[in-house]
Amino acid sequence: MKQCNVAIAGLGVVGAQTAQLLLNNQSSYATKTGANITLKAVSARSKGKDRGFDISSLHWCDNPVDLATMDDIDIVVEVMGGSDGPALALTKAALSAGKHVVTANKAMIALHGMELAKLAEDNNAQLCFESSVAGGIPALKILREGLAANDIQAVSGILNGTCNYILSTMEQTGRAFNDVLSEAQALGYAEADPTFDVDGIDAAHKLAILQSIAFAVQPNFDNLSITGIRAITDMDISYAAELGYRIRLIGRATAAGDAGVAPMLLPMGSALASVTGPTNAVNYEATPVQTISAMGPGAGAGPTASAVVADIMDIASGRNTYPFGRAAKDLASQSGNTSTAAQSSYYLRLRVTDEKGVLADVTDVLNACDMSIETLIQKQLEDGKDADLVMILHEASSENLVNACDKLKTMSVVGDMSLPMAVQK
Ligand SMILES: NC(=O)c1ccc[n+]([C@@H]2O[C@H](COP(=O)([O-])OP(=O)(O)OC[C@H]3O[C@@H](n4cnc5c(N)ncnc54)[C@H](OP(=O)(O)O)[C@@H]3O)[C@@H](O)[C@H]2O)c1
Repeated sequence: MKQCNVAIAGLGVVGAQTAQLLLNNQSSYATKTGANITLKAVSARSKGKDRGFDISSLHWCDNPVDLATMDDIDIVVEVMGGSDGPALALTKAALSAGKHVVTANKAMIALHGMELAKLAEDNNAQLCFESSVAGGIPALKILREGLAANDIQAVSGILNGTCNYILSTMEQTGRAFNDVLSEAQALGYAEADPTFDVDGIDAAHKLAILQSIAFAVQPNFDNLSITGIRAITDMDISYAAELGYRIRLIGRATAAGDAGVAPMLLPMGSALASVTGPTNAVNYEATPVQTISAMGPGAGAGPTASAVVADIMDIASGRNTYPFGRAAKDLASQSGNTSTAAQSSYYLRLRVTDEKGVLADVTDVLNACDMSIETLIQKQLEDGKDADLVMILHEASSENLVNACDKLKTMSVVGDMSLPMAVQK
């Protein structure tokens, strides 16, 4: 039987679980792949740390980059994290040495994916990163393999479990963002520094990868428009519910070139709106298959290691794929920013001085920017001085929306303004 030796750099949440799967299921994986997949070497920062399994029979490297040049290693698994530093150094060194690389590192792939894909091709090595997008959901395999016969129109989804946990908990409990964020940190759903999650960066890393495979473009993180969830208030969640919607952080890329991450209002009955807690979901709109959805745990040891090992098994079986679904030379470059011409309906809440003529003035400003109100809730506040104007606006370009918001902000009667959010009908 063919021998396939594996080294793992990083023995944290994902690495330790990956190691245990490989150690405990060797014979079952051999039956499925025709290869004897053997964990040989590991690296992490602290050799003495309890990893939940015995590492004494494995070769230990203090420097993870040394794994790249070990003679008897076929596949290097990079699960340390960080877009640059040791993760990138190891990945480059391993690919340059003709070794296959499996990584869960979305930040590294979103930022350096093109360079690494070329390096893999040049050295006849595989670069696989299924676990980097939506954890346990085979989100990339669906695109690259299951939907290979299709033209993809759009790929969208809930790509960050932390944000979805925060938004759905705010909705269920009426609590404020900061309060729920603290709870998410205590429960381990959010990092001590939540920036990557709540500011939409983690979801955007994943969207850049999905967009590249779906639309044959070079991954370009810098081209994405990114808005996180910090500005979402319990008030907006409650008004959205009154209007029949739920707010979710959605990453969406289309064949027309629009791509971004932002909170959106989704109809309550829609598939993505019903996703609660830290679950992820990905929707694919394609021809001829139409729309399909995949939902499941987007992070955590088991789900992520499941996808890491699936990549290892693909390589061991000889199932070769280009990292982004086609040769690097066939990926178009993306220049300029995301188009602002795409039309959408929008949610906007204004806190205004409760006096005669304000609504007419707001309507005039909107009309001057080619925008108009489709649905309006007007609520007088308890202080008797202010009122909330909660609007769903008819379809318009994001450029018109930005113009209108800029003008509304200058009106003396307008106080607080919500984050404007696209509304899916
Ligand atoms: N956790 C998830 O649910 C999840 C889901 C999808 C993707 N990912 C991705 O998977 C990767 C790993 O995430 P994780 O949650 O498993 O991280 P983690 O628990 O923080 O583990 C990181 C591991 O890397 C080791 N490490 C860090 N810097 C190192 C260095 N310079 N040299 C050697 N070892 C080093 C650490 O060693 P010590 O243990 O000795 O400190 C630790 O074992 C990241 O790219 C992440 O984005 C994670």
